[in-house]
Amino acid sequence: MDITSVPVMQGYLRMCDDGWQQGWHERNGGNLTYRMRPQEVEAFRPCFQTPGEWVKMGVKAENLKGEYFITTGSGRYFRNVKEDPAHNVGVVEIDEEGEAWRILWGLQEGAKPTSEFPSHFLNHSVRKAATNGENRVIYHAHPANLIAMTYILPLTAKDFTRALWQSATECPVVFPGGVGVVPWMVPGGSEIAWATSKLMEEYDAAVWAHHGLFCSGPDFDTAFGLMHTIEKAAQIYLLALSAGGGKLRQTIEDKSLRAIAKDFGVTLREEFLES
Ligand code: 13P
Ligand code: ZN
Repeated sequence: MDITSVPVMQGYLRMCDDGWQQGWHERNGGNLTYRMRPQEVEAFRPCFQTPGEWVKMGVKAENLKGEYFITTGSGRYFRNVKEDPAHNVGVVEIDEEGEAWRILWGLQEGAKPTSEFPSHFLNHSVRKAATNGENRVIYHAHPANLIAMTYILPLTAKDFTRALWQSATECPVVFPGGVGVVPWMVPGGSEIAWATSKLMEEYDAAVWAHHGLFCSGPDFDTAFGLMHTIEKAAQIYLLALSAGGGKLRQTIEDKSLRAIAKDFGVTLREEFLES
């Protein structure tokens, strides 16, 4: 059976390639996980191989027991995913304790799920709970403009959210809840996973200072679109600041943000508005 004929895998592979084309995935940078629906697991089941060993993650989530995820491989390159899915991505099953994974397909020749799997896993857990099970995608990328912003703005959710909302009129509509900010931390472990998932209880995107961005969504389009919108707003912010010699002559005022929210039927995070 050709796994690229399974629709969910087609969507997953397309998103990896789209991220690569955007320039957000130098070398092995970034990772993507998808929580599979039961019918998608069944469509994939003929491809499953003899399961690998259970591997503990160092984190645990009650509400993800027995779930199946598609994940990118640690150290594998987004650039290569489309041409060779079996070496660069895989399907893992979570055990009945919600604390270990085992490989059922892909990640060939000794690959493992992304080193950020603990962060993805806890983010899936809190986003699943926060969205009544709707959320399925967690996406981490290294978009350059957003990372550059973490060198010039205070590392607070309010500062980042306001700068991004003001950088493009559609932003408050796309992420009315704003973005969280995680201070610089060592990547790849349970500590940064806990810090990120704490923010993801409230936000559907979290900035990692001097590193990148985590986005979530119910489907590939929404999660990719959120990453794209935030990174484009960051680009506009930096272009305007650079062109203006470090000064903005004008921006979208709070009353205008409120007007957008009213007309588009979204609720902005009130504590981030100043007037
Ligand atoms: P992986 O290759 O383990 O997915 O790590 C890439 C990365 O972006 C770490 O934050
Ligand atoms: Zn990273």
